[in-house]
Amino acid sequence: MRRGRTDPARLRGMDVLVTGGTGRLGRVVVGRLQGAGHRVRQMSRRGTGPGGVRGDLATGRDLSPALAGAEVVVHAASDARGNYWEADVAGTRRLVQAVDRGRLRHLVYVSIVGVDRIPFGYYHAKYAAEQVLLASGLPVTLLRVTQFHDFVDELLRTARRGPVLPVPMGWRAQPVDVGEAATHVAEVAAGPPAGDVVEFGGPEELTAADMARAWAAAREPGARVVATPVPGRLSAAFRDGAALPTGGARGRRTYAEHLRG
Ligand SMILES: NC(=O)c1ccc[n+]([C@@H]2O[C@H](COP(=O)([O-])OP(=O)(O)OC[C@H]3O[C@@H](n4cnc5c(N)ncnc54)[C@H](OP(=O)(O)O)[C@@H]3O)[C@@H](O)[C@H]2O)c1
Repeated sequence: MRRGRTDPARLRGMDVLVTGGTGRLGRVVVGRLQGAGHRVRQMSRRGTGPGGVRGDLATGRDLSPALAGAEVVVHAASDARGNYWEADVAGTRRLVQAVDRGRLRHLVYVSIVGVDRIPFGYYHAKYAAEQVLLASGLPVTLLRVTQFHDFVDELLRTARRGPVLPVPMGWRAQPVDVGEAATHVAEVAAGPPAGDVVEFGGPEELTAADMARAWAAAREPGARVVATPVPGRLSAAFRDGAALPTGGARGRRTYAEHLRG
């Protein structure tokens, strides 16, 4: 039998590069891929950590050596708080230029559920990066994931104002455990490219107030959750469920279990 580029049976013991391998998700993905028997290198600007190589998507520096020989690329780098148009969009274009087209079997881009529906600058950039990959002719999967539990914790911690924890009224989300998301990313990476968008989300839909009350009870029992109406299109999109997955697989671990853990 002729083994094509998309034969999943080939995607064992592969040379994998994880961009953003020092990040919240990337570092767990690296472990999952190593556990599955792949040879994994991980890239970040600093190039720190086990298997770490340097590469800067915002400038293109060291990208070619970082990507040399990679059969699978998990693209999980992002500069959400910095210049994401440069690092995420132009950076994805640079990544497309730098990949080893002769070797590449699968490029998985980690995106976010709702990037096509939620009017938010960072999401527009993620969507634009998806379009770069779809137009690249490379064997890609655009894996849109919902918010990680740890990320929700961080948002709530920073939202707290003394004894009050204000949250946007009616915002809906379906957060997911980062370990389960990493397992799924690693499984998708070892399979055939979808050539399209696939989604992955947590097990249950929650409002911002649900999450805030659970978080406050577990972490800051003195904090009082106050749901506040927020005007505007961004807020309307979150209220309308634009951040909720419409298909794809689901994690099992709930936000309450995450808080207990
Ligand atoms: N956080 C969430 O809840 C969530 C949910 C769904 C999807 N996602 C997506 O999942 C991906 C990973 O998110 P995360 O929360 O794990 O991100 P993170 O913790 O902020 O990690 C970002 C990673 O990207 C690297 N990076 C940043 N700028 C770079 C550049 N110019 N060149 C090369 N590497 C660069 C960082 O390393 P250095 O700083 O060392 O370079 C780090 O390893 C992102 O694409 C994000 O949009 C996140």
